[in-house]
Amino acid sequence: PVARRAQALLARMTLEEKIGQLTQLGAEVPGPNKEKPDELIRAGKAGSVLWTIDSDLIARLQRVAVKESRLGIPLLFGYDVIHGYKNVFPVPIGMAASWDPALVERAQAIAAKESWVSGINWTFAPMVDIARDARWGRIVEGAGEDTFLGVAMARAQVRGLQGPALGTPERVLTSVKHFAAYGAADGGRDYDSVYVPEVLLRNVYFPPFQAAVEAGAGTVMSAYMTLNDVPASGNRWLLRDVLRQDMGFKGFVISDAFAVQSLQNHGYAADRADAATRGLQAGVNMDMASNTYLTQLPTLVRQGKVSMGVVDEAVREVLAVKLRMGLFERPYGDPARKEAVFNDPAHRAATREAARRSIVLLRNEGRALPLAAALKRIAVIGPLGDSGEDIKGSWTVEKGAGVTVLEGIKARWPQAEVTFSRGGDMQRAYALPWDANDGKPAPALMPAAEQQAELLKAVEAARHADTVVMVLGERANMSGEAASVASLALQGNQQALLEAVVATGKPVVLVLLNGRPLDIAWADAHVPAIVEAWFPGSEGGHAIADVLSGAVNPGGKLPVTWPRSTGHVPAYYNHNLTHANEADRLFTSRYSTDAPSSPLYPFGHGLSYTSFAYGEPRLDRSTARAGEAVKVSVSVRNTGTIAGDEVVQLYIHQRAGSAARPQRELKGFQRVQLQPGAERTLTFTLGRGELKFWSPVRRAWGVEPGAFDVWVGGSSAAQAHAEFRLTP
Ligand code: IFM
Repeated sequence: PVARRAQALLARMTLEEKIGQLTQLGAEVPGPNKEKPDELIRAGKAGSVLWTIDSDLIARLQRVAVKESRLGIPLLFGYDVIHGYKNVFPVPIGMAASWDPALVERAQAIAAKESWVSGINWTFAPMVDIARDARWGRIVEGAGEDTFLGVAMARAQVRGLQGPALGTPERVLTSVKHFAAYGAADGGRDYDSVYVPEVLLRNVYFPPFQAAVEAGAGTVMSAYMTLNDVPASGNRWLLRDVLRQDMGFKGFVISDAFAVQSLQNHGYAADRADAATRGLQAGVNMDMASNTYLTQLPTLVRQGKVSMGVVDEAVREVLAVKLRMGLFERPYGDPARKEAVFNDPAHRAATREAARRSIVLLRNEGRALPLAAALKRIAVIGPLGDSGEDIKGSWTVEKGAGVTVLEGIKARWPQAEVTFSRGGDMQRAYALPWDANDGKPAPALMPAAEQQAELLKAVEAARHADTVVMVLGERANMSGEAASVASLALQGNQQALLEAVVATGKPVVLVLLNGRPLDIAWADAHVPAIVEAWFPGSEGGHAIADVLSGAVNPGGKLPVTWPRSTGHVPAYYNHNLTHANEADRLFTSRYSTDAPSSPLYPFGHGLSYTSFAYGEPRLDRSTARAGEAVKVSVSVRNTGTIAGDEVVQLYIHQRAGSAARPQRELKGFQRVQLQPGAERTLTFTLGRGELKFWSPVRRAWGVEPGAFDVWVGGSSAAQAHAEFRLTP
């Protein structure tokens, strides 16, 4: 019936109305649309509206579409609801650090509900770009460096946001992005060229998209950059051969904002008409914000330069998604319920729970943490310590401060004297139009003399305290879109501040708020306790205090390899073996004289206030036929005195085959909670899905016979080992 209804509608549409369905208006963007969205919508010249979050305006524009346009086709209202709408969850890299797909699904279902009642029925999420270079600002928005973890997070996010099927009430349409390999930008510079060979595209970058497509993602967003010299938003191979044929995608493709127009900037399209032609022919159904289709396609079709068949096909796919999601039956949100939904205590509680589970304890020498309940004087120091805006991270929708670290500590230690000193400042990234500060220019950096005075005040506060909690890292908009950095060093005077405070000899705990691994090699050598809190969201300050006090035992694990310095990027654990592989050998992959090659913390690392012991992994068979599954069991015991969570991780390596395989690859994980002394045996299945790879020699997916290593443990440095063999 959907196909029939779409066809019936299409048969009644004028060319202008068809192209309207392929147009997403940036109604809030300065330019012609801002003045006349109503007029364009009434004329059927828009299929969707972008960046409008005012519920009244949304409802009004939707009424114009439904009641006043000739065919009454409802609009999609698209926005970046990335990690919450009103109640803000940790940023996606933090959610991934929970290694808890069920939690991620629940969180995104809440985000979807808050979004849907407000009128936003389409989110530009999940972002599933694999990122191996922390200089790239958008690493904050993905699940990190690993494909297996990325697949799990992609699936969970689509299920949460969109529901088990398109059209689930109070959920929203998803747009998995940015297709594809946007995270591999040259030098970590956002928007820069990407050169990724097909073997990596297939094995590393595509699978999370495939997972999102299989989970039912209704739309896909094509990326900004050139991929192997062809812009992703004009790339027929990517958008038709890979996405539709190989992956079986049935929804529609939207370009990233202005990406169709910028096919010209790439030196690809000769002019605007050429950009429209090549975007559409490549497979971009809907043009985000640039009005290129709107202004160019009517003439091109009339001149016979673009066939009506291509236009019809693109429109049919858009209409089919609108029909499948029930938009014709439920075009409006439910703004009258907005406040009730926003204030649902379960939503707020869910953000705190998510923040607690996303926190990673990086270091805890001499059991510096948890802090004693009886502390009398705590100094909270650092420019992020009292910021309710930064704690929420980038891409937030509704205004409103989150709980700061200072507030969280005061609430957790009510009897203590808690002081706060900024200690200095750091530069903000320039403001993006959709940032919380409404595109106003970034505030100027505090003058050096003032910074020094702040630093001295902070040192004084530290001297008077029993314990210092330093809150350092990045401001929210220092990570995210257009927020690449050349250096991972702590910005502003933060490093100097840290060193000066540590020099007081007071016990110091470092809490990091950030969207990417930073260069904390000095801290690792001098600060006993380091807590990675990411940007933990609305309840962030409380969740951090829960962990610092021991009310919550941290169990998050790193979804990224933590480099020792900027020079160590790209850093990822699953690289290939080299000419020689022993760490002490000269002729192996390593830095020679200035730095160890190992990361500061390996992928999957994260400590707990308790300890775990692993048994030897046991296999249900030592040989299997290629195509059969092998089961791996391992026992884990909590050997400490308090309950705790462990993320049990399984890695494999195929020793020989038609192509070299990474030295380790994550192929299973389970987060479990264990009471003190308790032991559990966990079982993992290594089936075709886990053992297959895309061979650049065979140019196909497959499982190859041969010998495999298996490791199980609490990080990618796991030692417990077993092996098996696949026979032909
Ligand atoms: O969804 C985003 C995308 O990730 C980057 N450019 C703008 C889009 C719409 O806001």
